Amino acid sequence: VDETYIMGKPDGVQRGLVGEIISRFEKKGFKLTGLKLFQCPQDLAEEHYKDLKGKSFFPKLIEYIVSGPVVCMAWEGVGVVAAARKLIGATNPLQAEPGTIRGDLAVQTGRNVVHGSDSPENGKREIALWFKEGELCQWTPAQAPWLRE
Ligand code: GTP
Ligand code: MG
Repeated sequence: VDETYIMGKPDGVQRGLVGEIISRFEKKGFKLTGLKLFQCPQDLAEEHYKDLKGKSFFPKLIEYIVSGPVVCMAWEGVGVVAAARKLIGATNPLQAEPGTIRGDLAVQTGRNVVHGSDSPENGKREIALWFKEGELCQWTPAQAPWLRE
């Protein structure tokens, strides 16, 4: 089953949007399997965004991610990676559709509130990167039969 790494970025935490972000994934029907507030060290931020290393905005991106605590989440469900990207909306919040997290709650690419893995492979990679083994919970939500036939 698919899993994705979702992260409330420092601006999301500072602006008090953590509950709202979690709530959107909960309401959709995905399963939370990991959750923590965490001060990200520089090297982890760089590893997480290593594909963007050559970009001009990379130093500012790393500075942003380590500028305050983030909320790390692992979510599980059929199709969760692509669905989470839809819930989050376009990278530039001004281009993100209303109804998406970024479309409703943000105005600038460099302060776009939330991260979501871009592929199932990266979902697994990022969950392994941000969580230690004992930090993840496998459980069966009581509502499962009311979400999927
Ligand atoms: P993530 O879910 O955070 O990975 O965003 P994304 O997949 O929508 O975009 P991408 O992976 O291409 O970029 C990662 C992050 O880098 C973005 O979410 C932004 O925070 C930041 N970023 C991307 N492009 C720019 C840019 O042109 N300028 C600035 N300042 N930040 C950027
Ligand atoms: Mg990305």
